[in-house]
Amino acid sequence: MSSVDSKLYQYAVQEAQAAVALDEKGQYRQALNKYQRAAEILIQFVKFNKNPIMIRKCRDQIEQYINRANVLKAHLSGPRARKGRPSMGTSEAKDSEGKGEEGQYSAEEQEIIDSISGTILTESPNVRWNDIAGLKSSKQALREAIVLPIMKPQLFTGARKPWSGILLFGPPGCGKTLLARAAATECEATFFSVSSADLLSKWLGESEKLISSLFKVARIKAPSLIFMDEIDSVATKRGEGHEGGGERRVKTQLLSEIQGVRSGSKKPLLVLGATNRPWDIDAAMLSRFEKKVYVPLPDLTARIGIFKIHTAGINMSLTEEDFVELGVRSEGYSGRDISNVCREVIMLPIRELDMSGLLENNDQEVIVRDINLKDFTKTLKKVKPMTTSAALKQYEQWAKDFGEY
Ligand SMILES: Nc1ncnc2c1ncn2[C@@H]1O[C@H](COP(=O)(O)OP(=O)(O)OP(=O)(O)O)[C@@H](O)[C@H]1O
Ligand SMILES: [Mg+2]
Repeated sequence: MSSVDSKLYQYAVQEAQAAVALDEKGQYRQALNKYQRAAEILIQFVKFNKNPIMIRKCRDQIEQYINRANVLKAHLSGPRARKGRPSMGTSEAKDSEGKGEEGQYSAEEQEIIDSISGTILTESPNVRWNDIAGLKSSKQALREAIVLPIMKPQLFTGARKPWSGILLFGPPGCGKTLLARAAATECEATFFSVSSADLLSKWLGESEKLISSLFKVARIKAPSLIFMDEIDSVATKRGEGHEGGGERRVKTQLLSEIQGVRSGSKKPLLVLGATNRPWDIDAAMLSRFEKKVYVPLPDLTARIGIFKIHTAGINMSLTEEDFVELGVRSEGYSGRDISNVCREVIMLPIRELDMSGLLENNDQEVIVRDINLKDFTKTLKKVKPMTTSAALKQYEQWAKDFGEY
């Protein structure tokens, strides 16, 4: 087995183990999800595997998981399930207490709430604005578009309505996901984070149901923020690429849900999308995102800040001037590129330690040298920026045509 293959298999095993554990605890909806995933991964695995014994074993497992998933599905859609079903015990289920209009949800609402837990992340992300260097105007735009309408809805009455759809776009690794998380943390709304992979889960009609449940729950728990990362993968231009019937349906459903948000209710429900391929997004979807926020490569001050954030708590001999030099030398680097540089640099003194002596002798005091400017300049030569200048021009042109600075 190649290492990729074996990883795939291990991943399927993990999902299956989680499914069994959830099943035993009576968390059927989540167990169902995990069984389906385990089967899905194994189906992929079998496609690439040539070992007949392994293939047979996997087929048996796939059948077993699908059978169990079907039993659970039948159970969950039965009338008994609605009443006596035990709570799902996730953060979602826990924080559902006391948050509704009357402090409680109806059995039907609870049913929908449970149906999305496990697939959609609803934990508070706990990222602060200060964890993000620079990006002043993107932060400001998000505050205005997300935090204010949720925290101070009274400001948005009459014709002054908040933007229901906001799109973050820009080169990879520049803080889109971070910004979304910081906005969610600050506004204390119920935060739903959906990955495109979840939305495209190929399980016959499951994706559409998932999307519709997601928006229903978000409405129940409003004020809510739905974050859809890498939205380009579910919202590609119609007719392009290898879009199958299922994907088209997912997109259509998503379009109508986002449309529905606009004509929405009293408490705000906002949809925040992020993409590094804005030009791939279908025009109909793009028009749903009324506000577009450009998240550019970090400028000099931001780069200096990112170096500092990613070396916090490490002993170093760098002066303020050295940091400025690093900022100058890293022109064109994204935040992720800089964080990779820092990670490399931080490991250098560890690599220089005498490992054998260190591990044999427990009493020996470990002395790790400080990192210095030379470590950085050497590493900067090795770790190159990922964004090409051609790509950068493309973003800037798109920002001019569709977005705002
Ligand atoms: N402004 C910043 N301040 C601090 N760290 C940053 C900043 N921008 C990026 N980073 C670092 O880079 C990593 C990647 O950032 P993030 O995931 O937000 O990028 P992204 O724009 O969502 O990229 P992608 O388009 O690939 O999804 C972060 O986890 C963080 O470590
Ligand atoms: Mg991202």
